[in-house]
Amino acid sequence: MGKGQRLDKFLAHMGFGTRREVKTLLRQRRVVLNGQRVTAGELKIDPERDQVKVDDRNVKYQEFYYLMLNKPAGYLSATKDRFAPTVLDLIPADLRVRDLSPVGRLDKDTEGLLLLTNDGPLAHRLLAPNSRVPKTYFLRVDGKVTPAEQAVLAAGVLLDDGYRTLPAEVHILTSGEVSELLLTIYEGKFHQVKRMLHAVGKEVIYLQRRSMGNLTLDPGLASGECRPLTEEEIKCLKAWTRPVR
Ligand code: URA
Repeated sequence: MGKGQRLDKFLAHMGFGTRREVKTLLRQRRVVLNGQRVTAGELKIDPERDQVKVDDRNVKYQEFYYLMLNKPAGYLSATKDRFAPTVLDLIPADLRVRDLSPVGRLDKDTEGLLLLTNDGPLAHRLLAPNSRVPKTYFLRVDGKVTPAEQAVLAAGVLLDDGYRTLPAEVHILTSGEVSELLLTIYEGKFHQVKRMLHAVGKEVIYLQRRSMGNLTLDPGLASGECRPLTEEEIKCLKAWTRPVR
């Protein structure tokens, strides 16, 4: 987004709704530009220098947003759905900028680390099939996972559609009536973890993503909470996904 931007376009980008909704906001005299109440959406502003307030709240310009969400079960990894709540419903209004989307999907019943961003190219690079971004999951499995099954999962298993998974890392944390595992995979097929365990005759009863690339779920984030990534996290993520020349 360059300098000399229309005020209504800027507000729409910053998550204040569609251009029509922004028009209403302006008509309701809720927008202040450099200390003056304004109603004209076509006013040109410099988003990096001009001070814009809506309902007395500063609207700070930022082109790209990167949020870490500790996704709870029961929410769809989507931006809207007619029937079920989506992860966007968990994002506070001031962070819900336009085009904010989850990077990839966690199943409705899966919890843990979900990155959301409006940086389309970065999301694309993270999700590209050949990006080989490691994703680590904590899982509880019904029954005892044997070292033989661990070896099969690590070497690559044949899924129900005939696809053989790439080598993975499997750590058995506890093994008993319910086993606990850490599993790192380098791809992201549909329901991959559950289907990998199915392939060795096991049922996943709890699934949580702990990390993705060099991004680790913040233990301080309660279930359902999100926070912007730190500068350092953004830098690492960008370095991780830099296009290879
Ligand atoms: N694998 C799954 O089976 N489900 C998820 O949500 C993520 C990985």
